[in-house]
Amino acid sequence: MDEIGCRIHVLAIPYPLQGHLNPMLQLCKRLTSKGVRITLVTITSARLSVQNQFESIQIEYILDDDNIEAEGSNDSEKGAAHFKRIQIAVSDNLAKLVEEKASSGHPVNIVLYDSMMPWILEIVQGQLGLKGAAFFTQACAVSAIYNHIHRGTLKVPLETSTILLPSMPQLESNDLPSFVYNPGPYPDVLDLVLAQNINLEKSDWLLFNSFDKLENEVVTWLTERYPIKTIGPSTPSMYTDKRLKDDKDYTVNFFTPDSGACLKWLDTKETGSVVYVSFGSMSDLGENQMQEIACGLMNCTCNFLWVVRPSEESKIPRDFMFESQERGLIVNWCPQPKVLSHRAVGCFMTHCGWNSTIEALSLGVPMVTMPVWADQTTNSKYIVDVWKVGLRVKASEEREMVTREEVERTIREVMHGEKASELRSNALRWKELAKEANSEGGSSDKNIEEFVSSVESTHS
Ligand code: UDX
Repeated sequence: MDEIGCRIHVLAIPYPLQGHLNPMLQLCKRLTSKGVRITLVTITSARLSVQNQFESIQIEYILDDDNIEAEGSNDSEKGAAHFKRIQIAVSDNLAKLVEEKASSGHPVNIVLYDSMMPWILEIVQGQLGLKGAAFFTQACAVSAIYNHIHRGTLKVPLETSTILLPSMPQLESNDLPSFVYNPGPYPDVLDLVLAQNINLEKSDWLLFNSFDKLENEVVTWLTERYPIKTIGPSTPSMYTDKRLKDDKDYTVNFFTPDSGACLKWLDTKETGSVVYVSFGSMSDLGENQMQEIACGLMNCTCNFLWVVRPSEESKIPRDFMFESQERGLIVNWCPQPKVLSHRAVGCFMTHCGWNSTIEALSLGVPMVTMPVWADQTTNSKYIVDVWKVGLRVKASEEREMVTREEVERTIREVMHGEKASELRSNALRWKELAKEANSEGGSSDKNIEEFVSSVESTHS
């Protein structure tokens, strides 16, 4: 124990993107509640507001990323350049940081790193002589699919259109992560996600942002091969865990959130009457597709709150906001967990990013799924067919997009009638199970405690 009573000191290195930083931050917060000191290492554009709110979380910025234009002529090249910059910044600074912490009387006991950066383990174990824990921020099912490809038990390019993998429902090729069935514009990303497997056996701990009951079969399959621990849902706990009462709004914002007007607007709406629509921090929908969504929302006659990031605003029909004034509100960014936990929200039209998925599950909100790329297709399959908490909009083959009629029809089915009641009651069941996993003695809570005790025992 150090002088403020911390049991161990964890140096956490999230991959600095919205969808990766959020769950790492929430995991760190849970660790602080177990008496762990955290140093969180990130880049300035993450704009973390955690400092001064938790004595035991220190933020170290290793790369001034503000105003740096990502090099590259397309998204794939820009992504690779961003990734490279992070790799250089971490490689250059890690040893120095660890030394500084030791000389200030707080030696680091373990490095917790995002599984997308497996090369960190080489530095941690090889150069620094420390232990490393990988944190997987996606679904266990998605990690298991990448693991099958890595081991050669699933061949890419795919040889069949129907995929049978142990511990998973029957999948169509396009239920797999998009990088597998359509590497298309992101040829390097498949290699990047598969690389999460290269040193699984060497990592001292493998932590997954899921919970046992949610992905029971696939967790068992993974556990038989690797010593994994589920520690999720790693979502803001203020709504699901009353023990962490001091939790304000510890989400990371790469975008400026609406000041709270959207919550006030929700207060004026009837219970369960609003469709909350968001496609996360990265999706880039075509202009025609955005227009179809706008018209579908208009025609479905529900209230709606739609997050449209500044870069997407020009794709919305010009008169749309004027015409939908009564029923709709568009914001550039919102405090999503607060919105999802608002009584007025009746369903979530989502791109199925893993954080959005487990936030909705933890808060008992049924979903209209519209996966765009990456792991979202697999998450959607589970939302619809395994957890049975949502319906997926189907793209028209002829128009190669989701039509306004389909948006309207699916929202109506998720919001009203018999199917809607069934989805709602399933969603409430998952909410309870998520809460149970994170509550004292629950599966994820126990796993976090075991992780901390085990690191502690090697240093006492
Ligand atoms: C990315 C990938 O797209 C996703 O598929 C992968 O699972 C994680 O990395 P992203 O697209 O940003 O993530 O989606 P998601 O995982 O859902 O994360 C978005 C986060 O931003 C959520 O935690 C959500 O609460 C937050 N958010 C979103 C806000 O706080 N405000 C908003 O207005 C919208």
